[in-house]
Amino acid sequence: MQLVSLLVLAPSLPLAAAETVLGAFIFHRHGDRTTKSYTPVTLTPLGAEQVFTSGSWYRDNYISADAPSRINGVSSDLAVLSQLSITSSIDNVLQNSAQVFLQGLYPPAGNLATQKLANGSSINSPLNGYQYIPVNAVTSPTSGKGAEETNGWLQAGSGCTKAIASSNSYFQSAEYLATLDSTQEFYQSLLPVYNATFPSPNATFKNAYTIYDFVHVSTIHNTTSTIPSHDLLTPSTLHQLQTLADAHEFGLAYNASSPIRAIAGSVLAAQIVSALNTTLSAPAGKKSAQKLTTQFGAYGTFMAFFGLAGAPAASPDFYGVVDYASSFVFELVTNASLPAGAVDTADVSVRFLFTNGSASATNVPKAYPLFGRAETTLRWDVFVEEMDKFAIGTTAVWCQACGNTDGICSPASLGVATADDGGDGAADGGVSRPVAGVIGAVVAIAVILAVQGLIMLIGGLRLAKKETVALAKKASHDGVSVSTEGRV
Ligand SMILES: *[C@@H]1O[C@H](CO)[C@@H](O)[C@H](O)[C@H]1NC(C)=O
Ligand SMILES: *[C@@H]1O[C@H](CO)[C@@H](O)[C@H](O)[C@H]1NC(C)=O
Ligand SMILES: *[C@@H]1O[C@H](CO)[C@@H](O)[C@H](O)[C@H]1NC(C)=O
Ligand SMILES: *[C@@H]1O[C@H](CO)[C@@H](O)[C@H](O)[C@H]1NC(C)=O
Ligand SMILES: *[C@@H]1O[C@H](CO)[C@@H](O)[C@H](O)[C@H]1NC(C)=O
Ligand SMILES: *[C@@H]1O[C@H](CO)[C@@H](O)[C@H](O)[C@H]1NC(C)=O
Ligand SMILES: *[C@@H]1O[C@H](CO)[C@@H](O)[C@H](O)[C@H]1NC(C)=O
Ligand SMILES: *[C@@H]1O[C@H](CO)[C@@H](O)[C@H](O)[C@H]1NC(C)=O
Repeated sequence: MQLVSLLVLAPSLPLAAAETVLGAFIFHRHGDRTTKSYTPVTLTPLGAEQVFTSGSWYRDNYISADAPSRINGVSSDLAVLSQLSITSSIDNVLQNSAQVFLQGLYPPAGNLATQKLANGSSINSPLNGYQYIPVNAVTSPTSGKGAEETNGWLQAGSGCTKAIASSNSYFQSAEYLATLDSTQEFYQSLLPVYNATFPSPNATFKNAYTIYDFVHVSTIHNTTSTIPSHDLLTPSTLHQLQTLADAHEFGLAYNASSPIRAIAGSVLAAQIVSALNTTLSAPAGKKSAQKLTTQFGAYGTFMAFFGLAGAPAASPDFYGVVDYASSFVFELVTNASLPAGAVDTADVSVRFLFTNGSASATNVPKAYPLFGRAETTLRWDVFVEEMDKFAIGTTAVWCQACGNTDGICSPASLGVATADDGGDGAADGGVSRPVAGVIGAVVAIAVILAVQGLIMLIGGLRLAKKETVALAKKASHDGVSVSTEGRV
Protein backbone atom coordinates (compact mmCIF):
# COMPACT_ATOMS: atom_id res chain seq x y z
CA MET A 1 0.00 0.00 0.00
CA GLN A 2 2.73 2.34 1.03
CA LEU A 3 4.61 1.50 -2.10
CA VAL A 4 1.64 2.38 -4.24
CA SER A 5 1.18 5.79 -2.71
CA LEU A 6 4.85 6.54 -3.09
CA LEU A 7 4.68 5.70 -6.75
CA VAL A 8 1.70 7.92 -7.20
CA LEU A 9 3.26 10.78 -5.33
CA ALA A 10 6.74 10.62 -6.73
CA PRO A 11 6.12 11.98 -10.22
CA SER A 12 4.10 14.85 -8.88
CA LEU A 13 6.88 16.17 -6.67
CA PRO A 14 8.82 18.16 -9.27
CA LEU A 15 5.61 19.63 -10.63
CA ALA A 16 4.64 21.02 -7.26
CA ALA A 17 6.77 24.13 -7.62
CA ALA A 18 5.60 26.77 -10.05
CA GLU A 19 8.20 29.05 -11.60
CA THR A 20 9.97 31.16 -9.02
CA VAL A 21 11.67 34.44 -9.80
CA LEU A 22 14.89 34.56 -7.77
CA GLY A 23 15.97 38.03 -8.73
CA ALA A 24 16.03 40.59 -11.52
CA PHE A 25 18.15 43.24 -13.17
CA ILE A 26 16.34 46.23 -14.68
CA PHE A 27 17.97 48.72 -17.04
CA HIS A 28 15.91 51.87 -17.44
CA ARG A 29 15.80 55.08 -19.45
CA HIS A 30 14.70 58.40 -17.99
CA GLY A 31 11.26 59.89 -18.58
CA ASP A 32 10.28 62.88 -20.70
CA ARG A 33 12.71 65.78 -20.36
CA THR A 34 13.40 69.18 -21.81
CA THR A 35 15.43 69.48 -24.99
CA LYS A 36 19.15 68.97 -25.07
CA SER A 37 19.47 72.17 -27.04
CA TYR A 38 19.10 74.34 -23.97
CA THR A 39 20.66 73.69 -20.60
CA PRO A 40 19.85 72.83 -17.93
CA VAL A 41 18.06 69.74 -19.14
CA THR A 42 15.43 68.67 -16.63
CA LEU A 43 12.98 65.86 -16.05
CA THR A 44 9.45 67.16 -16.69
CA PRO A 45 6.31 66.34 -14.70
CA LEU A 46 5.26 64.19 -17.65
CA GLY A 47 8.59 62.38 -17.41
CA ALA A 48 8.16 61.84 -13.70
CA GLU A 49 4.72 60.40 -14.37
CA GLN A 50 6.25 58.01 -16.93
CA VAL A 51 8.91 56.58 -14.66
CA PHE A 52 6.48 56.43 -11.76
CA THR A 53 4.11 54.38 -13.91
CA SER A 54 6.95 52.04 -14.75
CA GLY A 55 8.05 51.73 -11.12
CA SER A 56 4.46 50.93 -10.15
CA TRP A 57 4.26 48.21 -12.78
CA TYR A 58 7.49 46.61 -11.60
CA ARG A 59 6.08 46.73 -8.10
CA ASP A 60 2.85 45.06 -9.20
CA ASN A 61 4.75 42.39 -11.08
CA TYR A 62 7.70 41.61 -8.82
CA ILE A 63 7.26 43.12 -5.36
CA SER A 64 3.66 43.26 -4.07
CA ALA A 65 2.39 40.50 -1.83
CA ASP A 66 0.10 39.36 -4.65
CA ALA A 67 2.56 39.98 -7.51
CA PRO A 68 2.32 37.28 -10.21
CA SER A 69 6.13 37.08 -10.50
CA ARG A 70 6.95 38.03 -6.94
CA ILE A 71 10.68 37.87 -6.36
CA ASN A 72 11.46 35.18 -3.83
CA GLY A 73 11.83 36.66 -0.37
CA VAL A 74 11.56 40.30 -1.43
CA SER A 75 9.95 42.62 1.08
CA SER A 76 6.54 43.73 -0.20
CA ASP A 77 5.81 47.02 1.50
CA LEU A 78 8.78 48.20 3.51
CA ALA A 79 11.90 48.42 1.41
CA VAL A 80 14.79 46.37 2.75
CA LEU A 81 17.79 48.24 1.46
CA SER A 82 20.10 45.24 1.32
CA GLN A 83 17.72 43.63 -1.18
CA LEU A 84 18.00 46.55 -3.57
CA SER A 85 20.84 48.00 -5.57
CA ILE A 86 19.88 51.16 -7.43
CA THR A 87 22.42 53.04 -9.51
CA SER A 88 22.46 55.85 -12.01
CA SER A 89 24.95 57.81 -14.02
CA ILE A 90 25.70 61.19 -12.49
CA ASP A 91 23.06 63.11 -14.33
CA ASN A 92 20.12 65.08 -13.00
CA VAL A 93 17.60 63.63 -15.41
CA LEU A 94 18.65 60.04 -14.79
CA GLN A 95 19.03 60.38 -11.04
CA ASN A 96 15.68 62.10 -10.67
CA SER A 97 14.11 59.42 -12.82
CA ALA A 98 15.54 56.74 -10.57
CA GLN A 99 14.13 58.47 -7.51
CA VAL A 100 10.65 58.75 -8.94
CA PHE A 101 10.79 55.16 -10.19
CA LEU A 102 11.52 54.10 -6.61
CA GLN A 103 8.44 55.96 -5.44
CA GLY A 104 6.41 53.66 -7.64
CA LEU A 105 8.38 50.60 -6.53
CA TYR A 106 8.04 51.31 -2.83
CA PRO A 107 5.40 53.98 -2.25
CA PRO A 108 5.02 55.75 1.11
CA ALA A 109 4.30 53.02 3.63
CA GLY A 110 1.71 54.89 5.67
CA ASN A 111 1.00 53.20 9.00
CA LEU A 112 3.36 50.34 8.21
CA ALA A 113 6.21 52.80 8.71
CA THR A 114 5.03 53.73 12.19
CA GLN A 115 7.40 52.96 15.05
CA LYS A 116 6.76 52.84 18.75
CA LEU A 117 9.22 54.70 20.97
CA ALA A 118 10.46 53.77 24.42
CA ASN A 119 8.04 56.19 26.07
CA GLY A 120 5.12 54.52 24.32
CA SER A 121 4.33 57.19 21.73
CA SER A 122 4.13 56.29 18.06
CA ILE A 123 5.80 58.15 15.27
CA ASN A 124 5.68 57.94 11.48
CA SER A 125 8.29 59.24 9.07
CA PRO A 126 7.44 62.40 7.10
CA LEU A 127 5.27 62.48 4.00
CA ASN A 128 3.10 59.59 5.13
CA GLY A 129 5.94 57.15 5.58
CA TYR A 130 7.92 58.13 2.50
CA GLN A 131 10.66 55.55 1.85
CA TYR A 132 14.20 56.71 1.33
CA ILE A 133 15.98 54.39 -1.06
CA PRO A 134 19.46 55.56 -2.00
CA VAL A 135 20.30 56.00 -5.67
CA ASN A 136 24.00 55.38 -5.84
CA ALA A 137 25.93 57.27 -8.41
CA VAL A 138 29.09 55.27 -8.02
CA THR A 139 29.50 51.90 -6.41
CA SER A 140 32.32 52.25 -3.96
CA PRO A 141 35.25 50.03 -4.61
CA THR A 142 36.04 47.88 -1.63
CA SER A 143 39.18 45.90 -1.33
CA GLY A 144 40.66 42.78 -2.78
CA LYS A 145 41.40 40.87 -5.94
CA GLY A 146 39.56 43.00 -8.39
CA ALA A 147 36.18 42.05 -6.96
CA GLU A 148 35.33 45.70 -6.49
CA GLU A 149 35.74 46.28 -10.13
CA THR A 150 33.05 44.01 -11.39
CA ASN A 151 30.70 46.87 -10.56
CA GLY A 152 33.06 49.45 -11.95
CA TRP A 153 31.59 52.55 -13.43
CA LEU A 154 33.47 52.65 -16.65
CA GLN A 155 30.17 53.37 -18.26
CA ALA A 156 29.20 54.92 -21.52
CA GLY A 157 32.28 54.44 -23.56
CA SER A 158 33.95 57.74 -23.03
CA GLY A 159 37.44 57.82 -21.76
CA CYS A 160 37.91 54.61 -23.72
CA THR A 161 40.39 55.63 -26.39
CA LYS A 162 39.51 52.98 -28.91
CA ALA A 163 35.76 53.33 -28.43
CA ILE A 164 35.92 57.06 -29.05
CA ALA A 165 38.07 56.56 -32.12
CA SER A 166 35.70 53.88 -33.39
CA SER A 167 32.62 56.04 -32.82
CA ASN A 168 34.24 58.96 -34.56
CA SER A 169 35.13 56.82 -37.54
CA TYR A 170 31.38 56.51 -38.14
CA PHE A 171 31.63 59.99 -39.62
CA GLN A 172 33.98 58.64 -42.28
CA SER A 173 31.88 55.59 -43.10
CA ALA A 174 30.35 55.24 -46.54
CA GLU A 175 27.00 54.73 -44.89
CA TYR A 176 27.19 58.03 -43.02
CA LEU A 177 28.52 60.03 -45.95
CA ALA A 178 25.83 58.72 -48.27
CA THR A 179 23.07 59.63 -45.84
CA LEU A 180 24.62 63.02 -45.15
CA ASP A 181 24.45 63.71 -48.84
CA SER A 182 21.01 62.32 -49.56
CA THR A 183 19.36 64.16 -46.65
CA GLN A 184 20.98 67.56 -47.19
CA GLU A 185 17.89 68.96 -48.86
CA PHE A 186 15.53 67.45 -46.31
CA TYR A 187 17.22 69.10 -43.33
CA GLN A 188 17.51 72.44 -45.15
CA SER A 189 13.84 72.32 -46.07
CA LEU A 190 12.93 72.40 -42.39
CA LEU A 191 15.06 75.44 -41.56
CA PRO A 192 12.04 77.69 -41.03
CA VAL A 193 11.14 75.48 -38.06
CA TYR A 194 14.51 75.45 -36.36
CA ASN A 195 16.87 78.01 -37.90
CA ALA A 196 16.99 80.01 -34.67
CA THR A 197 18.59 76.99 -33.02
CA PHE A 198 20.18 75.20 -35.97
CA PRO A 199 21.44 77.67 -38.54
CA SER A 200 21.79 76.46 -42.11
CA PRO A 201 25.32 74.98 -41.82
CA ASN A 202 24.21 72.96 -38.79
CA ALA A 203 21.02 71.69 -40.37
CA THR A 204 22.43 68.41 -41.63
CA PHE A 205 22.43 64.72 -40.82
CA LYS A 206 25.53 65.34 -38.74
CA ASN A 207 23.18 66.74 -36.08
CA ALA A 208 20.43 64.21 -36.72
CA TYR A 209 19.82 63.41 -33.09
CA THR A 210 19.93 66.92 -31.66
CA ILE A 211 17.66 68.21 -34.40
CA TYR A 212 15.23 65.35 -33.86
CA ASP A 213 15.39 65.93 -30.11
CA PHE A 214 14.64 69.62 -30.45
CA VAL A 215 11.67 69.03 -32.73
CA HIS A 216 10.39 66.01 -30.82
CA VAL A 217 10.43 67.86 -27.49
CA SER A 218 8.63 70.77 -29.15
CA THR A 219 5.87 68.52 -30.44
CA ILE A 220 5.25 67.41 -26.86
CA HIS A 221 5.58 70.74 -25.08
CA ASN A 222 4.93 73.62 -27.51
CA THR A 223 1.56 74.68 -28.75
CA THR A 224 1.71 74.84 -32.52
CA SER A 225 1.48 78.62 -32.46
CA THR A 226 4.87 78.75 -30.74
CA ILE A 227 6.53 76.58 -33.39
CA PRO A 228 7.41 78.62 -36.46
CA SER A 229 6.19 77.02 -39.71
CA HIS A 230 4.78 74.14 -37.71
CA ASP A 231 2.84 73.03 -40.78
CA LEU A 232 6.13 71.67 -42.14
CA LEU A 233 6.12 69.08 -39.37
CA THR A 234 3.86 66.53 -41.01
CA PRO A 235 3.69 62.99 -39.61
CA SER A 236 5.90 61.80 -42.43
CA THR A 237 8.49 64.51 -41.80
CA LEU A 238 8.52 63.73 -38.09
CA HIS A 239 8.91 60.05 -38.86
CA GLN A 240 11.82 60.78 -41.17
CA LEU A 241 13.53 62.94 -38.54
CA GLN A 242 13.15 60.12 -36.06
CA THR A 243 14.39 57.29 -38.25
CA LEU A 244 17.37 59.34 -39.40
CA ALA A 245 18.22 60.03 -35.75
CA ASP A 246 17.86 56.30 -35.03
CA ALA A 247 20.32 55.40 -37.79
CA HIS A 248 22.77 58.07 -36.67
CA GLU A 249 22.75 56.98 -33.03
CA PHE A 250 22.91 53.28 -33.76
CA GLY A 251 25.85 53.98 -36.04
CA LEU A 252 27.67 55.70 -33.20
CA ALA A 253 26.73 53.06 -30.65
CA TYR A 254 27.50 49.81 -32.42
CA ASN A 255 29.41 48.38 -35.34
CA ALA A 256 29.70 44.61 -35.71
CA SER A 257 33.19 44.96 -37.17
CA SER A 258 34.33 47.17 -34.31
CA PRO A 259 32.83 45.84 -31.08
CA ILE A 260 34.86 48.23 -28.93
CA ARG A 261 32.50 50.97 -30.13
CA ALA A 262 29.87 49.37 -27.91
CA ILE A 263 32.02 49.48 -24.77
CA ALA A 264 29.07 50.79 -22.76
CA GLY A 265 27.14 47.63 -23.60
CA SER A 266 30.12 45.44 -22.71
CA VAL A 267 30.43 47.02 -19.29
CA LEU A 268 26.69 46.77 -18.73
CA ALA A 269 26.74 43.08 -19.67
CA ALA A 270 29.34 42.36 -16.99
CA GLN A 271 27.30 44.30 -14.45
CA ILE A 272 24.18 42.32 -15.31
CA VAL A 273 25.91 38.95 -14.92
CA SER A 274 27.59 40.07 -11.74
CA ALA A 275 24.38 41.34 -10.15
CA LEU A 276 22.38 38.23 -11.03
CA ASN A 277 25.22 36.06 -9.81
CA THR A 278 25.21 37.88 -6.49
CA THR A 279 21.58 36.90 -6.05
CA LEU A 280 22.23 33.37 -7.22
CA SER A 281 25.20 32.83 -4.91
CA ALA A 282 23.22 33.67 -1.79
CA PRO A 283 21.08 31.08 -0.01
CA ALA A 284 17.57 31.21 -1.49
CA GLY A 285 16.08 31.86 1.93
CA LYS A 286 18.43 34.66 2.91
CA LYS A 287 16.25 37.69 3.55
CA SER A 288 19.02 40.24 3.35
CA ALA A 289 20.40 39.07 0.01
CA GLN A 290 20.43 41.39 -2.98
CA LYS A 291 17.38 40.62 -5.11
CA LEU A 292 16.64 43.52 -7.39
CA THR A 293 19.22 45.61 -9.19
CA THR A 294 18.12 48.63 -11.17
CA GLN A 295 20.31 50.88 -13.22
CA PHE A 296 19.31 54.07 -14.99
CA GLY A 297 21.28 54.80 -18.11
CA ALA A 298 21.37 56.43 -21.50
CA TYR A 299 19.66 55.26 -24.68
CA GLY A 300 23.11 54.89 -26.21
CA THR A 301 23.85 52.13 -23.72
CA PHE A 302 20.63 50.37 -24.69
CA MET A 303 21.75 50.49 -28.33
CA ALA A 304 25.28 49.31 -27.59
CA PHE A 305 23.96 46.42 -25.54
CA PHE A 306 21.27 45.51 -28.09
CA GLY A 307 23.89 45.44 -30.82
CA LEU A 308 26.23 43.19 -28.87
CA ALA A 309 23.46 40.88 -27.68
CA GLY A 310 21.99 40.48 -31.15
CA ALA A 311 18.61 41.96 -30.23
CA PRO A 312 17.97 43.32 -33.75
CA ALA A 313 17.82 39.71 -34.97
CA ALA A 314 14.73 39.28 -32.80
CA SER A 315 13.19 42.52 -34.06
CA PRO A 316 14.55 45.32 -36.26
CA ASP A 317 12.86 47.71 -33.82
CA PHE A 318 15.95 47.32 -31.66
CA TYR A 319 17.81 49.51 -34.16
CA GLY A 320 15.73 52.46 -32.96
CA VAL A 321 16.29 54.82 -30.04
CA VAL A 322 14.08 53.52 -27.23
CA ASP A 323 11.26 55.77 -26.06
CA TYR A 324 11.41 57.66 -22.77
CA ALA A 325 11.03 55.46 -19.67
CA SER A 326 11.78 52.29 -21.63
CA SER A 327 13.26 49.41 -19.73
CA PHE A 328 14.52 45.91 -20.10
CA VAL A 329 14.74 43.32 -17.40
CA PHE A 330 16.67 40.10 -17.02
CA GLU A 331 14.82 37.81 -14.65
CA LEU A 332 16.44 34.88 -12.91
CA VAL A 333 13.96 32.01 -12.81
CA THR A 334 13.73 28.42 -11.67
CA ASN A 335 11.15 25.66 -11.66
CA ALA A 336 12.94 23.71 -8.96
CA SER A 337 11.70 23.83 -5.40
CA LEU A 338 13.96 26.07 -3.37
CA PRO A 339 16.65 24.48 -1.23
CA ALA A 340 17.85 25.92 2.07
CA GLY A 341 21.13 26.96 0.50
CA ALA A 342 21.93 28.51 -2.85
CA VAL A 343 19.90 27.22 -5.77
CA ASP A 344 21.85 24.85 -8.03
CA THR A 345 22.77 26.92 -11.06
CA ALA A 346 21.83 23.96 -13.24
CA ASP A 347 18.21 24.58 -12.23
CA VAL A 348 18.28 28.27 -13.08
CA SER A 349 17.41 30.13 -16.26
CA VAL A 350 17.43 33.75 -17.41
CA ARG A 351 14.79 35.56 -19.44
CA PHE A 352 15.10 38.92 -21.22
CA LEU A 353 12.06 41.18 -21.46
CA PHE A 354 11.77 44.64 -22.94
CA THR A 355 9.16 47.33 -23.06
CA ASN A 356 9.28 50.45 -25.21
CA GLY A 357 8.11 53.33 -23.03
CA SER A 358 6.70 53.01 -19.51
CA ALA A 359 5.96 49.48 -18.41
CA SER A 360 2.28 49.26 -17.48
CA ALA A 361 -0.66 46.90 -17.57
CA THR A 362 -1.23 48.01 -21.16
CA ASN A 363 2.47 47.94 -22.10
CA VAL A 364 3.73 44.78 -20.46
CA PRO A 365 7.40 43.88 -21.00
CA LYS A 366 7.67 41.18 -23.62
CA ALA A 367 10.24 38.38 -23.83
CA TYR A 368 12.63 38.41 -26.79
CA PRO A 369 15.33 35.90 -27.66
CA LEU A 370 18.89 37.21 -27.68
CA PHE A 371 22.25 36.04 -29.05
CA GLY A 372 20.71 34.87 -32.32
CA ARG A 373 18.95 32.02 -30.51
CA ALA A 374 15.34 30.95 -30.71
CA GLU A 375 14.48 30.39 -27.04
CA THR A 376 13.57 33.21 -24.67
CA THR A 377 14.43 31.29 -21.50
CA LEU A 378 18.12 30.39 -21.42
CA ARG A 379 19.89 28.15 -18.98
CA TRP A 380 22.12 30.14 -16.63
CA ASP A 381 25.38 28.68 -17.88
CA VAL A 382 24.43 29.28 -21.50
CA PHE A 383 23.42 32.84 -20.67
CA VAL A 384 26.72 33.48 -18.91
CA GLU A 385 28.66 31.99 -21.79
CA GLU A 386 26.87 34.25 -24.28
CA MET A 387 27.29 37.39 -22.18
CA ASP A 388 30.94 36.58 -21.54
CA LYS A 389 31.60 36.80 -25.26
CA PHE A 390 31.42 40.56 -24.97
CA ALA A 391 31.24 41.45 -21.26
CA ILE A 392 33.99 43.62 -19.81
CA GLY A 393 33.97 43.56 -16.05
CA THR A 394 37.34 44.57 -14.72
CA THR A 395 39.47 47.64 -15.04
CA ALA A 396 42.40 45.64 -16.34
CA VAL A 397 40.41 44.17 -19.22
CA TRP A 398 38.78 47.49 -19.89
CA CYS A 399 42.16 49.21 -20.07
CA GLN A 400 43.49 46.65 -22.46
CA ALA A 401 40.43 46.68 -24.69
CA CYS A 402 40.40 50.47 -24.76
CA GLY A 403 44.12 50.81 -25.29
CA ASN A 404 44.31 53.20 -22.33
CA THR A 405 47.55 53.30 -20.41
CA ASP A 406 47.24 56.28 -18.09
CA GLY A 407 45.02 57.31 -15.19
CA ILE A 408 43.35 54.22 -13.74
CA CYS A 409 45.06 52.28 -16.49
CA SER A 410 48.60 53.20 -15.58
CA PRO A 411 50.68 50.21 -14.53
CA ALA A 412 50.97 51.72 -11.06
CA SER A 413 47.20 51.95 -10.69
CA LEU A 414 46.67 48.48 -12.05
CA GLY A 415 49.32 47.09 -9.75
CA VAL A 416 51.20 45.39 -12.56
CA ALA A 417 54.91 45.47 -13.15
CA THR A 418 55.92 47.62 -16.07
CA ALA A 419 58.17 44.80 -17.27
CA ASP A 420 55.68 43.32 -19.71
CA ASP A 421 54.62 46.59 -21.26
CA GLY A 422 55.72 45.34 -24.63
CA GLY A 423 53.08 42.65 -24.67
CA ASP A 424 50.20 45.08 -24.29
CA GLY A 425 51.47 47.38 -26.95
CA ALA A 426 49.80 45.34 -29.64
CA ALA A 427 46.39 45.64 -28.00
CA ASP A 428 44.00 45.41 -30.88
CA GLY A 429 40.64 45.89 -29.30
CA GLY A 430 40.44 42.19 -28.60
CA VAL A 431 39.87 41.30 -24.99
CA SER A 432 41.92 38.81 -23.15
CA ARG A 433 39.70 37.99 -20.23
CA PRO A 434 41.50 35.49 -18.03
CA VAL A 435 44.32 37.81 -17.13
CA ALA A 436 42.00 40.23 -15.52
CA GLY A 437 40.92 38.41 -12.41
CA VAL A 438 44.46 37.40 -11.68
CA ILE A 439 45.91 40.83 -11.94
CA GLY A 440 43.56 42.07 -9.28
CA ALA A 441 44.11 45.75 -9.50
CA VAL A 442 44.50 47.31 -6.14
CA VAL A 443 43.83 50.94 -6.75
CA ALA A 444 43.63 53.74 -4.26
CA ILE A 445 39.96 54.39 -3.71
CA ALA A 446 40.36 58.08 -4.13
CA VAL A 447 41.95 57.65 -7.51
CA ILE A 448 39.18 55.39 -8.70
CA LEU A 449 36.48 57.70 -7.52
CA ALA A 450 38.13 60.72 -9.04
CA VAL A 451 38.70 59.09 -12.37
CA GLN A 452 35.33 57.41 -12.47
CA GLY A 453 33.73 60.74 -11.78
CA LEU A 454 35.72 62.20 -14.62
CA ILE A 455 34.72 59.42 -16.96
CA MET A 456 31.10 59.93 -16.15
CA LEU A 457 31.34 63.66 -16.58
CA ILE A 458 32.87 63.30 -19.95
CA GLY A 459 29.69 61.69 -21.14
CA GLY A 460 29.29 59.00 -23.67
CA LEU A 461 28.31 58.87 -27.25
CA ARG A 462 27.51 62.52 -27.47
CA LEU A 463 31.10 63.28 -26.80
CA ALA A 464 32.22 61.11 -29.61
CA LYS A 465 29.74 62.85 -31.80
CA LYS A 466 30.96 66.29 -30.96
CA GLU A 467 34.54 65.56 -31.76
CA THR A 468 35.62 64.47 -35.14
CA VAL A 469 39.13 64.53 -33.84
CA ALA A 470 39.87 60.95 -33.04
CA LEU A 471 42.49 61.63 -30.45
CA ALA A 472 40.92 60.50 -27.24
CA LYS A 473 43.16 62.57 -25.06
CA LYS A 474 41.98 65.72 -26.67
CA ALA A 475 38.41 64.54 -26.70
CA SER A 476 38.55 63.78 -23.00
CA HIS A 477 39.74 67.23 -22.18
CA ASP A 478 37.19 68.95 -24.34
CA GLY A 479 34.59 66.65 -22.95
CA VAL A 480 34.95 67.67 -19.35
CA SER A 481 33.08 70.84 -20.01
CA VAL A 482 30.38 69.14 -22.02
CA SER A 483 27.09 68.99 -20.22
CA THR A 484 26.47 65.48 -18.96
CA GLU A 485 22.84 65.73 -19.94
CA GLY A 486 24.02 65.56 -23.50
CA ARG A 487 24.01 61.84 -23.60
CA VAL A 488 20.69 60.88 -22.21
C1 LIG B 1 8.31 60.47 23.56
O1 LIG B 1 9.64 60.70 23.05
C2 LIG B 1 9.70 61.49 21.88
C3 LIG B 1 11.17 61.54 21.42
O2 LIG B 1 12.01 61.86 22.45
C4 LIG B 1 9.15 62.86 22.16
O3 LIG B 1 9.19 63.64 20.97
C5 LIG B 1 7.72 62.73 22.66
O4 LIG B 1 7.21 63.98 22.96
C6 LIG B 1 7.63 61.79 23.83
N1 LIG B 1 6.23 61.56 24.13
C7 LIG B 1 5.77 61.65 25.38
C8 LIG B 1 4.31 61.36 25.53
O5 LIG B 1 6.47 61.96 26.29
C1 LIG C 1 32.23 49.72 -39.17
O1 LIG C 1 33.57 49.35 -38.95
C2 LIG C 1 34.28 49.02 -40.13
C3 LIG C 1 35.63 48.49 -39.70
O2 LIG C 1 36.24 49.37 -38.80
C4 LIG C 1 34.35 50.23 -41.03
O3 LIG C 1 35.01 49.89 -42.22
C5 LIG C 1 32.95 50.71 -41.35
O4 LIG C 1 32.99 51.90 -42.09
C6 LIG C 1 32.19 50.94 -40.07
N1 LIG C 1 30.82 51.29 -40.39
C7 LIG C 1 30.18 52.24 -39.76
C8 LIG C 1 28.78 52.50 -40.20
O5 LIG C 1 30.67 52.89 -38.85
C1 LIG D 1 14.71 81.69 -40.19
O1 LIG D 1 13.86 81.47 -41.30
C2 LIG D 1 12.81 82.43 -41.40
C3 LIG D 1 11.84 81.96 -42.48
O2 LIG D 1 12.56 81.42 -43.56
C4 LIG D 1 13.41 83.80 -41.65
O3 LIG D 1 12.39 84.78 -41.73
C5 LIG D 1 14.34 84.14 -40.50
O4 LIG D 1 15.00 85.36 -40.76
C6 LIG D 1 15.36 83.05 -40.28
N1 LIG D 1 16.05 83.32 -39.03
C7 LIG D 1 17.35 83.15 -38.90
C8 LIG D 1 17.91 83.39 -37.53
O5 LIG D 1 18.06 82.81 -39.82
C1 LIG E 1 26.90 74.93 -35.42
O1 LIG E 1 28.09 74.29 -35.84
C2 LIG E 1 29.27 74.96 -35.46
C3 LIG E 1 30.44 74.27 -36.12
O2 LIG E 1 30.38 72.87 -35.91
C4 LIG E 1 29.37 74.94 -33.94
O3 LIG E 1 30.52 75.60 -33.50
C5 LIG E 1 28.14 75.60 -33.36
O4 LIG E 1 28.15 75.47 -31.95
C6 LIG E 1 26.88 74.96 -33.90
N1 LIG E 1 25.74 75.72 -33.46
C7 LIG E 1 24.68 75.13 -32.94
C8 LIG E 1 23.61 76.05 -32.49
O5 LIG E 1 24.58 73.92 -32.84
C1 LIG F 1 9.30 75.57 -28.13
O1 LIG F 1 9.21 76.53 -27.11
C2 LIG F 1 10.45 76.92 -26.54
C3 LIG F 1 10.21 77.93 -25.44
O2 LIG F 1 9.13 77.55 -24.68
C4 LIG F 1 11.32 77.54 -27.61
O3 LIG F 1 12.59 77.85 -27.07
C5 LIG F 1 11.51 76.54 -28.74
O4 LIG F 1 12.23 77.15 -29.77
C6 LIG F 1 10.15 76.10 -29.26
N1 LIG F 1 10.35 75.03 -30.26
C7 LIG F 1 10.19 75.28 -31.56
C8 LIG F 1 10.41 74.11 -32.49
O5 LIG F 1 9.88 76.36 -32.00
C1 LIG G 1 29.37 33.76 -9.35
O1 LIG G 1 29.84 33.94 -8.03
C2 LIG G 1 30.54 32.82 -7.53
C3 LIG G 1 30.81 33.04 -6.05
O2 LIG G 1 31.30 34.34 -5.84
C4 LIG G 1 31.80 32.62 -8.34
O3 LIG G 1 32.51 31.52 -7.89
C5 LIG G 1 31.40 32.41 -9.80
O4 LIG G 1 32.54 32.35 -10.62
C6 LIG G 1 30.53 33.54 -10.29
N1 LIG G 1 30.00 33.21 -11.59
C7 LIG G 1 29.96 34.10 -12.57
C8 LIG G 1 29.36 33.64 -13.85
O5 LIG G 1 30.35 35.25 -12.46
C1 LIG H 1 10.58 51.97 -29.69
O1 LIG H 1 9.72 52.90 -30.29
C2 LIG H 1 10.34 53.76 -31.23
C3 LIG H 1 9.24 54.65 -31.78
O2 LIG H 1 8.90 55.63 -30.87
C4 LIG H 1 10.94 52.97 -32.35
O3 LIG H 1 11.64 53.83 -33.22
C5 LIG H 1 11.89 51.93 -31.78
O4 LIG H 1 12.36 51.14 -32.84
C6 LIG H 1 11.17 51.08 -30.77
N1 LIG H 1 12.11 50.13 -30.20
C7 LIG H 1 11.79 48.87 -29.90
C8 LIG H 1 12.86 47.97 -29.43
O5 LIG H 1 10.65 48.46 -30.03
C1 LIG I 1 8.90 26.34 -15.90
O1 LIG I 1 7.85 25.57 -16.43
C2 LIG I 1 6.99 26.28 -17.31
C3 LIG I 1 5.87 25.34 -17.70
O2 LIG I 1 6.39 24.13 -18.19
C4 LIG I 1 7.78 26.77 -18.50
O3 LIG I 1 6.95 27.52 -19.35
C5 LIG I 1 8.93 27.65 -18.02
O4 LIG I 1 9.72 28.05 -19.10
C6 LIG I 1 9.76 26.88 -17.01
N1 LIG I 1 10.75 27.78 -16.48
C7 LIG I 1 12.02 27.44 -16.36
C8 LIG I 1 12.91 28.39 -15.69
O5 LIG I 1 12.46 26.39 -16.79
